[in-house]
Amino acid sequence: MSNQINIPRGTQDILPGQTEKWQLIEAKARELCERYQYRELRTPIFEHTDLFKRSVGDTTDIVQKEMYTFTDRGDRSLTLRPEGTAAAVRSFVENKMFGSPNQPVKLYYMGPMFRYERPQAGRFRQFVQFGVEAMGSADPAIDAEVISLAMSLYKELGLKKLKLVVNSLGDKESRKAHRDALVSHFQPRIGEFCSDCQNRLEKNPMRILDCKADRDHELMKSAPSIIDYLTDDSAQYFNKVTKYLTDLGIEFEVDANLVRGLDYYNHTAFEIMSDAEGFGAITTLCGGGRYNGLVEEIGGPETPGIGFALSIERLLAALDAEGVELPVNEGIDCYLVALGDEAKDYTVGLLHNLRMADFSAERDYQDRKIKAQFKAADRMNARYVAVLGEDELKEKKINLKSMADGEQIQLPLESFIEKFKDICK
Ligand code: HAM
Repeated sequence: MSNQINIPRGTQDILPGQTEKWQLIEAKARELCERYQYRELRTPIFEHTDLFKRSVGDTTDIVQKEMYTFTDRGDRSLTLRPEGTAAAVRSFVENKMFGSPNQPVKLYYMGPMFRYERPQAGRFRQFVQFGVEAMGSADPAIDAEVISLAMSLYKELGLKKLKLVVNSLGDKESRKAHRDALVSHFQPRIGEFCSDCQNRLEKNPMRILDCKADRDHELMKSAPSIIDYLTDDSAQYFNKVTKYLTDLGIEFEVDANLVRGLDYYNHTAFEIMSDAEGFGAITTLCGGGRYNGLVEEIGGPETPGIGFALSIERLLAALDAEGVELPVNEGIDCYLVALGDEAKDYTVGLLHNLRMADFSAERDYQDRKIKAQFKAADRMNARYVAVLGEDELKEKKINLKSMADGEQIQLPLESFIEKFKDICK
């Protein structure tokens, strides 16, 4: 065991017992996307590094500190995707989806993302995001739809302690006015901030508000808030979004300090947090917003867009914190117990036939004694145990025991599958 190799830091194996929960969540997400009419997009796990620099933004923590970037054998700089929006937009442009008569184009994705972050509860270096992106509509109703889809996923899985926080980052004009106000606010004392923030002052002062290192500086609290700089159009847009949320019965809070950690956002920005007691320090379950300039930035025509992403890891943590048990299907329909070599041989075919008839079924492969076979059936939560001994085989019969009530019946071996179907109906 001395030269054992362990899993990389910040990653995890998801073992049987857990994978069933993942599958259930994934199935629920897919089913919701079907109802909301979002269709699945699958893109590569790695992309050209420039894609993320240009979309997520040069001054963000993701691009500056967290990307898994490598040079391939052809000397290209590639990056394991840290998020899904950039690739969705790249694919939208590259596959000319803007030309489709079905607008907006509504996409979803589910898969691993990679960020070199300091691992802690709820924060991994490889995590799985489920996300949706709607491109081609600037109707505030689609903002409400996207938020509603995320909330529905959490609620239908059984979460109750959720907090939705929304903000508007405004349009270009609002952003410019806010930017100037931020520069005036921070400039006189920028020397008290970290070197990243000092760089951000010129390039992207809004990023200062998102800095983890300077979070507690007194100038943070008194910083000018974007909401006071919204143009009339932006304010009206935001009012519509919040009106629609109210119409849908979705509760929310407006937080003027919500700026999000990626550069492509404008207008609506939102996060969903867990309010459950005992949830770790990182409470954000889901984040998203509008990105009206991004398609153009990636080389496509001017196209508005909005989406969100959430990680399954944090969703599972929230379910745990609220004590929600997912209704995963545990147990099998039938376990075949066999006594004697001939009966054992016979169960090979019988097991196959059960499976071909759509039942989940298992038999012993360890040459166990009868008692141990029953124990194995118990451990697997078998609903029925079918027992085939030498005598039964001679008489062409099989004993079927219901594990729920202990009731036993004898069935003809020939028509066992048919009879079993009737019993299970
Ligand atoms: P984000 O806020 O960077 O946004 O990430 C979205 C969600 O991914 C987070 O709320 C969290 O659930 C999960 N997440 C992020 N980092 C980690 C991590 N290290 N470990 C576990 N979970 C994590 C985006 O990624 C945007 N692309 C969302 C979006 C889509 N905006 C518009 N469309």
